[in-house]
Amino acid sequence: MRVLVTGGAGYLGSHTLLELLGQGHEALVVDDFRNASPVALERVRALSNGGAFGVERLDIRDAPRLVEAARAFRPEAAIHFAGLKSVGESGARALDYWDVNVGGTVALLRALEEAGCGLVIFSSSATVYGEPAEPRPFREDDPVRPANVYGRTKAAAEAVLRDWAAAAPGRAALLLRYFNPVGAHASGRIGEDPRGVPENLMPFLAQVATGRRAALRIWGSDYPTPDGTGVRDYIHVEDLAEAHVAALARARHLAGAGGGAEAFNLGTGKGTSVLEMLRAFEAVVGRPLPHEMAPRRSGDVAEMRADCSRAAADLGWRARRDLRAMVESLWRWQSANPDGYGTDG
Ligand code: UFG
Repeated sequence: MRVLVTGGAGYLGSHTLLELLGQGHEALVVDDFRNASPVALERVRALSNGGAFGVERLDIRDAPRLVEAARAFRPEAAIHFAGLKSVGESGARALDYWDVNVGGTVALLRALEEAGCGLVIFSSSATVYGEPAEPRPFREDDPVRPANVYGRTKAAAEAVLRDWAAAAPGRAALLLRYFNPVGAHASGRIGEDPRGVPENLMPFLAQVATGRRAALRIWGSDYPTPDGTGVRDYIHVEDLAEAHVAALARARHLAGAGGGAEAFNLGTGKGTSVLEMLRAFEAVVGRPLPHEMAPRRSGDVAEMRADCSRAAADLGWRARRDLRAMVESLWRWQSANPDGYGTDG
């Protein structure tokens, strides 16, 4: 298929792009590179042996240019990653988050309409669920009640996509709710490259291991979890990339059956605590990593896990890579590229 990939130079975008090319799809990457590096695309090009993709440097809210790019490429489907993604900064930059994440989604859908494209795979997040009401994995029909600005913009973009899909027959929107994506491509050539001090556990831990950060601070050791630290459902980025390709087939099927919108949790269903992750990382690196206990981080919950049975049944997909593969691949990427793509200044 011809697939338009917004945010295709980013962490999840670049891994999915590589998987798409490997599966014989054609792609057009649309990215403004505000939080991504063109080097990632050069590496995808090399890893895919000169893969069939074009690149348009633009902000998805630039409607005339986006329409022009979509009309010229004539996508059969779009995978929409482009957006702002930091929970921590979203409160202070609320209007930017609404503008890019929701306004950008509306702009994309208008451009797809102009280009006659009715299939969209959307990069959503487990954060749309907010606090768990009961101690069990989240299911897709659990209530959506996000507890931060970032999550509210993701939930709103999901609503926009549902309304868009319902507005004409044959349109399909798949809302992929990621849990905690981690790791890197097995080659170690592409990976996560956050700007500034990483907010998330895995990139922070990787930078502690290279010596770029002094010590990991463990935010909270008094949670009602087996070892007192927060438990999350980490998923390998390559598994996530495969899920997007599976979602394309599902979207086409859904559109053929009249269309509509469907949400899918993407995780492993397994929970890992911060301390377990630290130990797994130390085992791969082969030495202890400096860390200290710190108070809870505001907005964090004790535990989040995905019930992934819908994805298994309807996408025919399940995560295949374990914690060790996640940590090993991250370490391969980080140790070979201690400054990421080298654009951090
Ligand atoms: N943690 C630390 N120290 C750190 C960073 C994180 O102890 O320096 C802990 C957190 O308290 C939490 C766990 O590691 O228990 C994971 O934290 P992350 O920041 O890596 O991930 P979150 O689960 O907080 O957030 C992630 C994504 C969000 C998404 C959310 C959905 O970053 O984009 O999952 O649940 F919205």
